Amino acid sequence: MSDKKASNAMWGGRFASGPAAIMEAINASIGFDKKLYAQDIRGSIAHSEMLAETGIIEEKDQEKIAHGLNTILKEIESGKFEFSTRLEDIHMNVEARLSELIGPAAGRLHTARSRNDQVAVDFRLWVKDEFHRVAEALKGLIEAFLKRAEEHAATVMPGFTHLQTAQPVTFGHHCMAYVEMFARDLSRVRDAIERMDESPLGAAALAGTGFPIDRFRTAKALGFREPTRNSLDSVSDRDYALEFLAIAAISATHLSRLAEEIVIWSTPQFGFVRLSDSFSTGSSIMPQKKNPDAAELVRAKTGRVNGHLIGLLTVMKGLPLTYSKDMQEDKEAVFDAAETLDLMLAAMTGMVGDMQVNEAAMKKAAGSGYSTATDLADWLVRTLNLPFREAHHVTGRAVALAEGKKVGLEKLTLEDLQSIHDGITDDIFSVLSVQNSVKSRTSFGGTAPAEVRRQIRYWKKRIAKA
Ligand code: ARG
Repeated sequence: MSDKKASNAMWGGRFASGPAAIMEAINASIGFDKKLYAQDIRGSIAHSEMLAETGIIEEKDQEKIAHGLNTILKEIESGKFEFSTRLEDIHMNVEARLSELIGPAAGRLHTARSRNDQVAVDFRLWVKDEFHRVAEALKGLIEAFLKRAEEHAATVMPGFTHLQTAQPVTFGHHCMAYVEMFARDLSRVRDAIERMDESPLGAAALAGTGFPIDRFRTAKALGFREPTRNSLDSVSDRDYALEFLAIAAISATHLSRLAEEIVIWSTPQFGFVRLSDSFSTGSSIMPQKKNPDAAELVRAKTGRVNGHLIGLLTVMKGLPLTYSKDMQEDKEAVFDAAETLDLMLAAMTGMVGDMQVNEAAMKKAAGSGYSTATDLADWLVRTLNLPFREAHHVTGRAVALAEGKKVGLEKLTLEDLQSIHDGITDDIFSVLSVQNSVKSRTSFGGTAPAEVRRQIRYWKKRIAKA
């Protein structure tokens, strides 16, 4: 007696009632897997229908089961259902309630099934639905960018490498870079859906079953293309969850780069964009401030999504086939990553659609930092047939001269330029303006407004079908 007390005192705290309480707390998943209630009930109804159709259970029992499950669905959706931690997870909570509602017939539902294939099918259904939600959200963001790109196909801004002014580009072109990125995310989502579109239901505990079940029927009833082909893999595979997290992490990473650009662009020093009040806040002490909080939080939440990917990869690594309880840890990672990504995409779509673009500030910055130096070098190659390396050298001297005089390249006189290379004529001034620089970059995928508009047309057509 006194021994028992001593060990209880060591477990201590919240678990004072002993090992049973500790076990219940570490074992239960109902706190989070109740999110799977609709999928669980859908899966059970499909399973029971198949059991009746193949003569494994009687029609009248199936009717009771389906009726009871639909009642439970309503109870849960109206908030009347009482979830119990003692009943561990969503599967046992639903089954226990079914037995209260319809009596012994409830016990027939679990024929030719195990919680291992049950949780696998529930979770796949949930992840598949979430993939579709993410696809829609990505399309919304892409469409917001296409609209801004159309408005600003010819708005010049500085293009950067190393965050140093490199060459003039257009804001429309910059928007279209994000269209490419988010369209790749969308195509990753489509690929992943294709790969995971198989039903594990009927794999039972791990080895399949001797009952004459029809897995093709349940797969079809649940909207999967076909059943999975190996019962062991069916209950031990969580690739679809890992793929969701990997795609979410890549997409979040894209969002964080955009978020960072918005943070930079909206500083008074850059002043390229102004965020709407809906996506920024003021400071309680500094009246002049407008903080890009939504962008900062998108940037930050990427850490959370990336963490979930590493978390689940680490849970899965080294697990022997087939099911291990470790795998119960898959859900919180995916649920939180999904909720976070949905919010990030919504916030970003709002910001992109709402932000005011300051064309004058972009144009002014586009002309700074000798951004047309490459155009000057290209002119020397094209017109005077200089080797590019030599042209690069001549241009360097022109930049140094302009720097010395504290003027832009286009403000150097013809005499200035001829003192560097006597072949230069005043035709060179046609390439030194940012507008002409941008207009000249007509190579496929280049920043010339005509080319940007062509890419916009291409994506508008493609996204409508994606
Ligand atoms: N709650 C469990 C999970 O999420 C369900 C599967 C339990 N299976 C088992 N053999 N204990 O993974």
